[in-house]
Amino acid sequence: MSDSKFRALRVLEKGGYFHTEIQEQSLDDLPDNDVLVKVKYSSLNFKDALSAHGHKGVTRQFPHTPGIDAAGVVVESRSPELKPGQEVIVTGYDLGMNTPGGFGEYIRVPVEWCVVKPPNHDLHYFMTLGTAGLTAGLSVDRLSQTVAADDGEVLVTGSTGGVGCLAVALLARLGYDTVALTSKVDHSDLLAKLGARRVLDRSHLEEMPEKALMKETWAGVVDTVGGALFSKILKTVKHSGAATTCGMVAGTELTTSIFPFILRGVTLYGIDSVEISRERKRHIWEKLDSDWALPDLKFLAQDVVLEELPGVIEKIYCGKMLGRAVLRHIDQE
Ligand SMILES: NC(=O)c1ccc[n+]([C@@H]2O[C@H](COP(=O)([O-])OP(=O)(O)OC[C@H]3O[C@@H](n4cnc5c(N)ncnc54)[C@H](OP(=O)(O)O)[C@@H]3O)[C@@H](O)[C@H]2O)c1
Repeated sequence: MSDSKFRALRVLEKGGYFHTEIQEQSLDDLPDNDVLVKVKYSSLNFKDALSAHGHKGVTRQFPHTPGIDAAGVVVESRSPELKPGQEVIVTGYDLGMNTPGGFGEYIRVPVEWCVVKPPNHDLHYFMTLGTAGLTAGLSVDRLSQTVAADDGEVLVTGSTGGVGCLAVALLARLGYDTVALTSKVDHSDLLAKLGARRVLDRSHLEEMPEKALMKETWAGVVDTVGGALFSKILKTVKHSGAATTCGMVAGTELTTSIFPFILRGVTLYGIDSVEISRERKRHIWEKLDSDWALPDLKFLAQDVVLEELPGVIEKIYCGKMLGRAVLRHIDQE
């Protein structure tokens, strides 16, 4: 296979500016790792948009192939753990950051990055979820350690985004009374279809006068945006409630007093889906394949081909993304 050519969406840097281009690559261009995977699907995440815009905190060197998610078939393996023909899911670690990622038709990765696809759903389902679904799963898993379904309403921020919409769907699936916070109230029908009991306009919360502690409102919060908005929402979590934090589209600062923690006993869970162990990833994927399986998500995800990626990347970068986008490499069925 060493002379095989394949296509990839590459990010190129010229004079400090970044642009994308579909280029032909050779398998020899891929790093020397244990497992060669023919990628059938990838998916788009906020981090891919950052990489495509040259954010050096994500990708240090260009040209580069983004794509932090990949699902496909093992073609070659130097590890006894995996055999050609096995279907695998690869997310996180360095994939798509500084290791060529799922926006190429092939990846070559360490065996420790590969999770064998669980049996009940196909690769497309797992890429509809992707890192966003894994992160939603990890968030709900943590939240449910503290908050039960009958404790009261759970708020999800950034609810039309990737992590947000899948958190809404999963919480609803598990019987939580889920409230979706969004700037896109005109898409309330989509959020209702995912299982949100009600939809709240983000501007309501943004405009609320801020105090050291605010009215106890939410039994739980799955936050995907961070910044000033999450700092304020933390003050509205009910006594003995919990919040999870995973994202930073609204900012990286968390401004808080100790009051939510010492006067209301609030628990704050940090969520990382990138560097956690493969066993933890497998555990969440297996749950999403079985008792947490989400119903048909076709209405939520659009399939795109390589040529359509730049447009979707721009939508995600500008916070305009609705639901999920799955990249289907075109030489697949
Ligand atoms: N910790 C981890 O392991 C991990 C894993 C995956 C993702 N993340 C992070 O989680 C965040 C969300 O990722 P994603 O893939 O779901 O992104 P996404 O699809 O782009 O969704 C983000 C959503 O946040 C809302 N939003 C955008 N700008 C905002 C702003 N300035 N203030 C408040 N809300 C805003 C929008 O939803 P509405 O219009 O509905 O409000 C937007 O659709 C990102 O920061 C990403 O890096 C972290």
